[in-house]
Amino acid sequence: MKKLICIVLALCMAAALAACGGSSSSGNNSTTAANNNTASANNAPAAGTEASASGSSLTTIEAGKLTISTSPDFPPFEYTDDSGNVIGIEPELMKLICDKLGLELQIDAMDFNSALLAAENGKSDAVVSGVTVREDRKALFDFTTSYTTITQAIVSKEGSGITMENLGSYRIGVQSGTTGQEFVEEDFGQDTVFAYDTYSLVFQALNNGQVDCIVMDDAVAKAYIASNPGLTMTNTTYSPEEYAFGFHKGNEALVNAVNSALAELMADGTVDSIISKYMTE
Ligand code: ARG
Repeated sequence: MKKLICIVLALCMAAALAACGGSSSSGNNSTTAANNNTASANNAPAAGTEASASGSSLTTIEAGKLTISTSPDFPPFEYTDDSGNVIGIEPELMKLICDKLGLELQIDAMDFNSALLAAENGKSDAVVSGVTVREDRKALFDFTTSYTTITQAIVSKEGSGITMENLGSYRIGVQSGTTGQEFVEEDFGQDTVFAYDTYSLVFQALNNGQVDCIVMDDAVAKAYIASNPGLTMTNTTYSPEEYAFGFHKGNEALVNAVNSALAELMADGTVDSIISKYMTE
């Protein structure tokens, strides 16, 4: 008799599991999946189980997780705290987006070029690394809505007198793979441009006198100047750039879901308050 009850229970569980599987694999319609996630996240923001049950209808490279690749040498957007955790505007924003979608946030740290490549090759779901939206990058990534704007700045030692007008006669340091590198190489050729994998290496080169200046995103330049006495910053005439998250191509449902979560966070002022919190720190 006991054995029979066991068999009946096992059959019931199998049926229940099959039903679950059926509903999640039928949730292929991107818009519906995105809306469902948002709705359930709103009803129960802290309810882990409910949220992850709905989040599982989104396909990611690792089920239930959103894996992002990032170069955490980019304060205030992404950097590491004393215990090696990646923090900043973008990790905080991604965490809130993941909460809304019922996904766990997985952060993979590496240099900028590798972070771009990881998303391009599907080793991460997205590159979240102060990425500027560029026409040529649109061929490699599906970008979300952009959430903030920066411009390029020149960082040099105080009193260097380096400006946009005389920039071409100096040795310029850049991070490899960045828009900063692209712009100065276009204008001045490769001979005066020195590319390094991380900003700690670029700043080391400036402090050691291996380069005369750095061309980089202004908000990040400000953060480095604040912690490197004796450096100063001046504006360039390069066009403003918009930041967005670059997703591995072809996952429309995921990008739509992230965009609706991001839209909510922009509409209710969360994005602005996170940005100003880190900018003033
Ligand atoms: N915004 C620039 C670009 O997209 C620089 C980004 C560098 N990001 C970083 N985390 N180091 O090319």
